[in-house]
Amino acid sequence: MNKIQILGPSKTIGEIKISGSKNSALPILFASLLVNEDIKIKNIPNIKDIYITLKLFSKIGVKIKKNKNLIINSKNIKKNYFPNKLIKKIRASIWLISPILIKFKKVKIHIPGGCKIGERPINLHLYGLEKLGAKIKLKDNYIIVKIKKKLISNTITFPQISVGATLTLILASILIPGLTIIKNFAKEPEIIDTINFLNTLGAKILYKKDKIKILGVKKLHGGTYKIIPDRIETGTYLIASVVSKGKIICYNTDANLLKNVLNKLKLSGAIIKTGNDFIKLKMSKRPKAVNIETLPYPYFPTDLQPQFTILNILAKGKSIITENIFQNRFNHVKELIKMGAKIKIQNNKIICKGINKIFGTEVNAKDLRSAASLIIAGCVAQGITTIKNINHIYRGYEDIEKKLCILGIKINKI
Ligand code: EPZ
Repeated sequence: MNKIQILGPSKTIGEIKISGSKNSALPILFASLLVNEDIKIKNIPNIKDIYITLKLFSKIGVKIKKNKNLIINSKNIKKNYFPNKLIKKIRASIWLISPILIKFKKVKIHIPGGCKIGERPINLHLYGLEKLGAKIKLKDNYIIVKIKKKLISNTITFPQISVGATLTLILASILIPGLTIIKNFAKEPEIIDTINFLNTLGAKILYKKDKIKILGVKKLHGGTYKIIPDRIETGTYLIASVVSKGKIICYNTDANLLKNVLNKLKLSGAIIKTGNDFIKLKMSKRPKAVNIETLPYPYFPTDLQPQFTILNILAKGKSIITENIFQNRFNHVKELIKMGAKIKIQNNKIICKGINKIFGTEVNAKDLRSAASLIIAGCVAQGITTIKNINHIYRGYEDIEKKLCILGIKINKI
């Protein structure tokens, strides 16, 4: 049964190594499909979403060698065969469209999967591809995209910011002759990491404040690249330390990737010191309540909203958490109420009234980040917290039980 138990309350004290970013590794892997030479990728996190992606790649003919680093070669990709079961497991499979379309002029894949945190539409991905001249058809949950003659460079302004759609458009544009310009694009560090990766392979992508300029090249060559640290994994452990009044050092991370989050943790009373590859955090008292509002980068990331909720339910004072990115990213709220939290949902807001203690009980994880939120809750709750469906957590957190044990958390799988 995929359950874990945590005996609280414990302080998280210790030093951990942050893994490579899941949301950088995924677009970089899909971008690699554009290249017919060996690519060596370093700092790939060993997590389920990566495992599923590599399984999908091997099924379509990508050559994969995995030792400490990953070496992939996409020269022998077979035509349009995509196992639905794998496509439906992860949201990232949407990024198959651009590379396969460019290689075979036609692609047909099932609508992708991903965490159940709202609709997860793909209209913005398709909007961008149409602007480049692609012909799109949606039929019985399949997306069919064709290029009549060839894709044409263009200037595209997204009606709404989307990480995934920005990446779909970048991947579709880099081999189109001429200048493609993308406006109102997502500025997440993982986008920049993918741009830097592609430029290492010979792409010509210029990232400016208000636009991305892409000068088409004939082909990309092989190379080596190291993935940036995972800012969401970093933020998750830092929040666990604040709520448990602990003391933690996160190594192999980069404070510049989560400035807004660090500011909010300082506002809650945490003492934070940073260096070029570490973040030190100490918390000796009950946190102060801090209002947060999730927005596209560089503002507070939606992927840390469920975790930050634990800080506010145990803080001194009242607070409001506003979720502006996903329609339903509150799967953790009902579970936290079972633990005694004084919170309620009002439209896209969580209204929090800080209390002193929450209590261990049986709770249910429904997606990756709400699973992370419940683990933090279990660390600080009085008594035993049993988390059902914990398998969600392995999608995005490498060696999480090991890292929590290093931090002194009493956790075991049942
Ligand atoms: C990426 O998802 C991340 N996933 C998410 O991380 C992250 O929360 C999200 O970006 C926002 O930062 C990966 O990188 C694999 P979006 P994505 O397109 O690309 C709507 C995690 O926990 N939208 O920026 O799906 C969408 O419904 C995951 O690691 C459309 O309406 O996010 C959402 O409300 C969760 N039409 C908003 O835009 C579209 O065509 C932002 O979505 C696409 C998106």
